[in-house]
Amino acid sequence: MTIIIISRDKDLKPWVVALKEADSSLDVQVWPHEKQKADIKFALCWKHPEGVLQDYPNLQCVSSMGAGVDHLFNDAFLPKHLPVVRIVDPLLAQYMFEYICTAVMYYFREFDVYQTQQAQSQWYQHSPKSMSQTTIGIMGLGKLGGYSAEKLSKMGFNVIGWSRSQKSIANVKAYVGDTQLGQFLAHTNILICLLPLTDRTSGILNLQLFNQLPQGAYLVNVARGEHLVEEDLITALNQGQLRGACLDVFQQEPLPIDHPFWMHKQIIVTPHCSSITDPRSVAPQIVQNYRRMQRGEPLLNQVSVLQGY
Ligand code: GLV
Repeated sequence: MTIIIISRDKDLKPWVVALKEADSSLDVQVWPHEKQKADIKFALCWKHPEGVLQDYPNLQCVSSMGAGVDHLFNDAFLPKHLPVVRIVDPLLAQYMFEYICTAVMYYFREFDVYQTQQAQSQWYQHSPKSMSQTTIGIMGLGKLGGYSAEKLSKMGFNVIGWSRSQKSIANVKAYVGDTQLGQFLAHTNILICLLPLTDRTSGILNLQLFNQLPQGAYLVNVARGEHLVEEDLITALNQGQLRGACLDVFQQEPLPIDHPFWMHKQIIVTPHCSSITDPRSVAPQIVQNYRRMQRGEPLLNQVSVLQGY
């Protein structure tokens, strides 16, 4: 019985070490150097080459190396019968909160405005706004969104959330489904996207949505680049509908060298670093799922193939 790790863009050495540390009896191999394809029962993947999982006739489970699973469902040849699991990790949630908090405070304390002033050697003070009168709207109240919502609310912000199904988080007003999206947006000063990427959410961050926010709102996208219609963001910024955006994810990653986002003064670009899975922190849950698979027990953090998250 073997676990295979498949990724073209991650350094896989720390993953092998962490898995062996979690269980020294594991046979861990790295694609494309596996010895016997028939021995592979469990695949740990991040953006694997499409179709490659069909090469393993005895595969019983596929795990994402991160929180998102869209990269797995993007594979048209993903064997339909396979259970798919993802990572749920407190450290991942904490890293995400820290990133979001940084972006929120940058906008809230108007560092963007002061940067513009600095470029022109201008000395103007702006009175700070109140946290309780600033509304942070989080799209997606799953493990990551829910955690950040709770923490930002405890900091003193007014936090609201929007999701497909009803969620209940203390002090966070929850809006549900398409019918309540407009109300949610109308109240949101800082919009955080933490939605899973599915056919229904692809392109959801578009001009029509931005126009429903109060003028001068701020966008933080830490979900997937495909959520955002990139040219609509430029339009919303140029029209003054949005004051700025902090983007960690892009339709094409790495962001192409000639992409207009790099030079746009109202956009902060970071290289998909908001929350990076720490192999040491998540190896125990991967090993647990491997053992559960062997024993035929229910898996941890299994996602719905139908819903795509
Ligand atoms: C990162 O993007 C993840 O899905 O964990």
